[in-house]
Formats: sequence, structure tokens, C-alpha cells
Amino acid sequence: MCARRLIAIYPGSFDPLTNGHLDLISRGAQLAEQLIVAILQNTHKQPLFTVDERIEMIRDAARELSNVEVDSFEGLLVDYAARRNANAILRGIRAISDYETELQMALINRRMRPETETIFLMAREEYSFISSRMIKEIITLGGDVSSFVPAAVASRLRAKFSH
Ligand code: PNS
Repeated sequence: MCARRLIAIYPGSFDPLTNGHLDLISRGAQLAEQLIVAILQNTHKQPLFTVDERIEMIRDAARELSNVEVDSFEGLLVDYAARRNANAILRGIRAISDYETELQMALINRRMRPETETIFLMAREEYSFISSRMIKEIITLGGDVSSFVPAAVASRLRAKFSH
């Protein structure tokens, strides 16, 4: 029996990238032949960082992973997956609270494009409570986020909120 090449997309907002995201990227990169981290260009949300800033930060944090590419997309994830010839979507699950939305997205995506299988990785325990939303709240209120995000992200956040 021969396993097919796994070309996986890890989609998300990554606003900003956390240590939990980075852990998933490195574990995903060990499973897949090619891992494409894809940032959604969401016109409805007002992001903290521009897509270009987020691409730069993820590229920097994942620079040692040679099979990881960082890109952005608009529109439906399954259409982007088709354009990139991806056969998998990678998502992380931290707690049971993530499950409902993730299940819904996975089933919708499967209905629209059955060729793309969603693969879930459980977040490591030490990262299971970290979210981009909380990071933004902590930094806005003057807290220290250095143990939750990669160093380059922490310094960008500090620069943004230093005045
Ligand atoms: O990091 P996030 O914000 O939880 O990521 C959500 C994301 C980007 C994976 C999801 O919103 C998405 O895939 N959006 C693209 C639009 C789409 O395909 N929607 C239909 C399936 S839910």
C-alpha cells in the first residue's frame, strides 16, 4: 500500500501568530510533504496586523522549516485548496469549545470539495489556552505576552502598543 503525497493547507487569521499556531505548523510540516500556511484576507474584520505583516512574522518564525510556505487567500478555502492542488486542510483543536465550529467547517468544506480531507491535530497542553483574541486583549491592557507568542511577534506587539 502506498500513501499519497500530502499537500496540506493550514488556514487561519493568525492575527497574531501564537506559540500554539507555531507548534501546529511544525507538527504539520512533519506530516505533510508541503504545508501552506494560508492567511484569510478578511474584508469584514478589522485586523491588528496587515496581511503582509502577518506573512512576514510567520515566515520569520517558520524560517527553518523548508517545506512550509506562507501565502494569503480570499474567497472560499476549498477553492483556494483546489487552486493549490492541496488534498488536506489542517486545523488545531484546543478544547471542546473549538469542536463545534471546527466540525461545522470540516463538514461544509467536505460537502463542497470531498477531495480535500480535514485533518485535526490536538493542541499541546501548554498551548491549549492561548488564543489570538486573548493576546490582543492582554497587550491592549498593558500586559506581557512574551510567553504566548514568538519573540518577533512580541516585539512587534510591544512596538504597536508602546504609546
Ligand atoms: O483562525 P480562524 O479565524 O479561526 O480561521 C478561520 C478560517 C480562515 C479557517 C475560516 O474562516 C475560513 O476558511 N474562511 C474562508 C471562507 C470559507 O471557505 N468559508 C466556508 C467554510 S467555513
